[in-house]
Amino acid sequence: MLKKLRYGIEQDRMPNIAFKMMATVFNIRDCFFSLDKLLDQFAIKEGQTIIDYGCGTGTYVGRASRLAGEKGKVFAVDIHELAIKEIDKKIHMENLNNVVGILAKGNHSPLEDDTADIIYALDVFHMVSDPQAFLKELNRISKPDGVLYIDNGHQPRDKAREKILSSGAWSIVEENKRYLRCRPVIQGHDGAP
Ligand SMILES: C[S@@+](CC[C@H](N)C(=O)[O-])C[C@H]1O[C@@H](n2cnc3c(N)ncnc32)[C@H](O)[C@@H]1O
Repeated sequence: MLKKLRYGIEQDRMPNIAFKMMATVFNIRDCFFSLDKLLDQFAIKEGQTIIDYGCGTGTYVGRASRLAGEKGKVFAVDIHELAIKEIDKKIHMENLNNVVGILAKGNHSPLEDDTADIIYALDVFHMVSDPQAFLKELNRISKPDGVLYIDNGHQPRDKAREKILSSGAWSIVEENKRYLRCRPVIQGHDGAP
């Protein structure tokens, strides 16, 4: 019951009230902590296409925008319309001309195949009810030589690792306390999606 209230009855979509509460907490949090510094570890280069999957209120988009630069692009994807509204506000207020908010439906985003050089999905994984479909979608929108940075969310590392490996969509190339760095398993190769 409490889970439904937090995570919603539609697949993975939080009720508006839960999203608004989260947004209030995150906006206060972001005044005190520079969580976005984490992106400096993701080797983002100017001109690259970045996808912030499960962008929420856009904690990371400003920094992603600056790192990708004028020639780069940042797609901020979320399953919640209120997240896209928050992103649109940020784009307007901070002049983030290379950022676009994208609304996903279930585990499908309207992005084209092979879009991203770098995808990051932070504090999202625990909310995803169908991790296989989620990870396959991330594989689809990643370039073949792309990289996925994903954290545990609020679940044990073992569980996150097991979900990634059993999806057949990503291999794990590095792990540290904060995240797992993954490479896409290429379509058509054994076990690929
Ligand atoms: C806890 S918030 C984290 C937001 C942001 N990544 C951060 O770290 O501040 C999780 C976000 O993921 C989104 N989300 C959950 N499941 C999703 C899915 N399957 N596809 C896209 N977004 C999803 C939620 O709507 C929510 O905005």
